[in-house]
Order: sequence, then structure tokens, then C-alpha cells
Amino acid sequence: MNILQSGCSLSIEHSVGGCVAMMRAVEFEEYGDPEVLKVVEAETPEPGPGQVTVDSAYAGVNFADLKARAEGYRVPSLPYRPGLEVSGRIRAVGAGVEGLRPGQEVAALVDSGAYAEVVVADTATVFPLPEGLDLRTAATLPTVVPTAHALLHEVGRLSAGESVLVHGAAGGIGTVAGQLARAAGAGAVYGVVSSPTKAGHALEHGYDEVFTTGTFADDVRRATGGRGVDLLLDPIGGDTLRQGLDVLAVFGRLVSFGNASGAEPWRVGQPELYPQGRSVAGFSILALAQSGPEALRALAERAFRKVTDGTVSLPVTAEFALSEAAEAHRLMGGRTSTGKLLLRVGA
Ligand SMILES: NC(=O)c1ccc[n+]([C@@H]2O[C@H](COP(=O)([O-])OP(=O)(O)OC[C@H]3O[C@@H](n4cnc5c(N)ncnc54)[C@H](OP(=O)(O)O)[C@@H]3O)[C@@H](O)[C@H]2O)c1
Repeated sequence: MNILQSGCSLSIEHSVGGCVAMMRAVEFEEYGDPEVLKVVEAETPEPGPGQVTVDSAYAGVNFADLKARAEGYRVPSLPYRPGLEVSGRIRAVGAGVEGLRPGQEVAALVDSGAYAEVVVADTATVFPLPEGLDLRTAATLPTVVPTAHALLHEVGRLSAGESVLVHGAAGGIGTVAGQLARAAGAGAVYGVVSSPTKAGHALEHGYDEVFTTGTFADDVRRATGGRGVDLLLDPIGGDTLRQGLDVLAVFGRLVSFGNASGAEPWRVGQPELYPQGRSVAGFSILALAQSGPEALRALAERAFRKVTDGTVSLPVTAEFALSEAAEAHRLMGGRTSTGKLLLRVGA
């Protein structure tokens, strides 16, 4: 293969002849700090059966993209192209695809590979944009909004009047969860952030009170008069999860949905659960995409309605060029970001 051979502008001449379209993508071929993210020229993918390709306008940045750079997460092999969500226009449809057409504006959730100019997506997780939703907003939605909805409702089974505690309250998930909990009639919505400078953002997005990481357990006991919270959303794991179990009310539920601490996998047994009828549940949107695509589709449609009806907004607080993906990772990894970070690709 010869890159950029004559007559093959922005494409390569294949050894068997003819031009193959090329695109830019961000990949890493070793684990490590944000510097491992490199822009590469890659062959433009074609959709397989049941798939589409999307000419990307924007890609969302998720904490899972940062975790991918750490060995032992969910990267099957190197080089790896991160990115779980994209908005843009359908470029091509694969065999057997119905109801989607080239040129249509969509948002999509993908298993990986959204940090690219052209992204392959399974149709089960491709969502035509509802009327009035722009491509920039659309890129913020596929991961965070259905996840926050599931954590509170489908998994957490929040009832009106109950109290909720959310870790990472100023981040992507946290910003949406605060607003959804408030809209569901929660009795009190408490957030936890690592630094007081992020508390203002959370207070503007549904939270009644915001605590800092080191003292949250005592703060919850004080705020609830020792009763504890009914529902706790935990993306941290380790000691934070254990402390969270201790501040659940009688019949309280903890939903685990991440392990930002990098701690060993937790185990919870009868001593923690039986005496007060507590429950621990879990959720992974990527696992649900594999195990129950129809359930995910229905969940996503319910969740996106909360955006189009104005219940939820997710501010984009920083936007980077595709080539600046490492900068976006530095910002999120430094724990100073709020709301949602985006990569601008073809917009
Ligand atoms: N299970 C699922 O389906 C699913 C789906 C999406 C996201 N998630 C999880 O939900 C969490 C939020 O995801 P997001 O994409 O919306 O990211 P984000 O919240 O915008 O940013 C990362 C968050 O992680 C917190 N954090 C805790 N420990 C950290 C550390 N060591 N380094 C950096 N940040 C740390 C930060 O809050 P503080 O600094 O205030 O603690 C920050 O809010 C992540 O843990 C992610 O893995 C799970």
C-alpha cells in the first residue's frame, strides 16, 4: 500500500490497484498518559450488514475513554481507537439496514472508535435526531443521558419524595442525574464533588446540597438527620462504595456504575445487606448494548425525550479539535472539568 499515491488525493492506492479512501482518527498503540493519543491516517471504514457509517460532526469525550488508556480496562488489543459516541450524517448503509438513509442526521453509541472522521455503528444504537436537536448537542447525549436515566429509574427505581446522592455530581453523568432526580420529584438531591469549585455547577443542575469527597459520609448523616439516603449512585468503587453503603437508609439502594478509583473489584455480602434490607445493583450501557439492544433502544428513546422536552440540558464546557484529544483527556483527568467535553471533527 502506498500512501497518497498519484491520483489518490486523501486516499491510498491499494496494492491490488484502485484508490481507497482515507480519514483521520485518533488511536493509541501503548497504554499511558494522554500523550499516547496520536492522530493517524486510516482506511475509511465501510458498513457491514446491519451497520451504517457516520461522517462525524462531533464526538463526545467520556471518562471511559480515559480509563481505556490504562492497561487492564476493556481494550481488547492495540492499537485502540477510543470514543463511544458520535453525531453526524449517515455516509453509507450496510446490507439489510432499513429506516436509515445516507445524509440523515443521527447520534450513535458505539463500542469504540468514535474519535475518527468516519465511524461505524450498529443500527440498534443509531438514533435519528429528533426535530430541533442540533448535531453539537446530539453528540453529548448517547452515553450520558440513557445511563443517568437508567441509574435513577430502570435500575435505581427512584420514587417521588426519596433522597438521592450522586458522586461526580458536576461531571457528565452527574449534571444529567441531578436534573432527572429533581424532575422525578426526589425529596432531596445531594451531590459529591472533589473540589468546592465545582459545587456551583452542580447546584445549577438540580442539586440541593453538594458535599466534598473526603467528608461526604458525615455530611450525608448530618443532612438527613442520621437517616441516610434512599438511592446512591456510585461510579467510584473501593472505599467510597463501602462508605456509601454505610450511609444508605433502611431499604436503601446503591447503584454501582464505574470504578474511577481503580480499586480492586468490591464484594458485598449478607452483613452489609441483611440488617437494613439494603440492595446493591449495577449498570453498564455498553454491556446492555450487547445483551439487550432493544431494551437499550427503548431506554435511550425515553431518556432523549427528557432533553427534547427541556427537562435536561447538558452544557458543553469545552470543545477541542480531533487532533487535541489529549488536551481533552488532560482536562477531564485533572478533575477540573464540569458538564460535557466534545471533540469537533467535521462540523
Ligand atoms: N456504567 C455505565 O454505563 C457508565 C456510562 C457512562 C459513564 N460511566 C461512569 O460514570 C462516571 C462519569 O463519567 P463521565 O463520562 O460523565 O465523566 P465526568 O463525570 O464528566 O468526568 C469524570 C468524573 O469522575 C470523577 N472522578 C473520580 N475519580 C477520578 C479520578 N481519579 N480521575 C478523574 N476523575 C475522577 C470526577 O469527579 P470528581 O473529581 O468531582 O470526583 C468527574 O466527575 C465515570 O466513572 C464513568 O466511568 C458509567
